[in-house]
Amino acid sequence: MSDYEATSAQAADARIDEPIATAPTSPAPAGAHRAPDRHGLLEVDDVTLRFGGVVALDRVSFNLHEGEIRGLIGPNGAGKTTCFNAMTGVYAPTSGQIRFRGMPLTGRKKYQITRLGIARTFQNIRLFPEMTALENTMVGTDARHKTSVVSALLRLPRHWHEERAGKEKAMDLLRFVGIERRAGEVARNLSYGEQRRLEIARALATEPILLCLDEPAAGFNPAEKESLLKLIREIRETGVTILLIEHDMRLVMGVTERIVVLEFGKKIAEGTPAEVRDDPKVVAAYLGVPTDAA
Ligand SMILES: Nc1ncnc2c1ncn2[C@@H]1O[C@H](COP(=O)(O)OP(=O)(O)OP(=O)(O)O)[C@@H](O)[C@H]1O
Ligand SMILES: [Mg+2]
Repeated sequence: MSDYEATSAQAADARIDEPIATAPTSPAPAGAHRAPDRHGLLEVDDVTLRFGGVVALDRVSFNLHEGEIRGLIGPNGAGKTTCFNAMTGVYAPTSGQIRFRGMPLTGRKKYQITRLGIARTFQNIRLFPEMTALENTMVGTDARHKTSVVSALLRLPRHWHEERAGKEKAMDLLRFVGIERRAGEVARNLSYGEQRRLEIARALATEPILLCLDEPAAGFNPAEKESLLKLIREIRETGVTILLIEHDMRLVMGVTERIVVLEFGKKIAEGTPAEVRDDPKVVAAYLGVPTDAA
């Protein structure tokens, strides 16, 4: 199944079941809808994930708290994307547990996790290239719709109402990420930077509580990075918690409050940007030198 088919199947699946209506509307402020953060928003608890002989995650644990911007960094192959995949139901951990608002995610399907309030973007952009920016964003709003397939087929009023509301919400989100003028353009004609922003709009359309961004600034020039930084802060201001994978240290250090560092699947450090920057194990991981030499 291609990436596009997978996303499409997921969106179709998502319309069939009744939603778990807990997540707030983004980008509107939404704290009032939420249960207290008793467990931490997300708990990654001793998670190991193996692919045959490769241990992509090796007993990794960390907690995310509601409202923070957390960095997830590490050299190539460290397990960062695998961590997102484990959190979003792409792969089940070999052992360990991931809980979101106290609820175990193990065994839940991707669309169920979307409805619980976790959204992500992809390291390699995944859009429907022949659909417009507006339509791509509406795929995200569809994941929240209450209408059944039957009412959609019968064109019942509830379906029309939701479709109109979905369109308005998608336009608002395109405006929010700064590409509303491109709403009617097919995704493949958008610039690379616009496509990255469109992915963020689509993820926000699912009304996430936690937004996971996998290298959203990859390939950006300094001005584009600066403007992405601003967007990430604006998203957080709406109440959305953010987990950010990013290789650009200046960007990560400038926007996150805490950082988790992975190397060869293991968590080697966690702390504030300053703590992590000065940690000899982190320096060694990035420079490729033994810890004692660093
Ligand atoms: N589906 C898979 N099948 C087999 N091995 C995999 C799979 N996905 C990831 N891996 C392996 O798991 C390890 C971690 O990969 P992952 O993509 O999570 O790293 P990453 O930290 O995101 O790296 P990068 O910075 O290059 O994106 C790597 O050794 C990778 O080859
Ligand atoms: Mg990756």
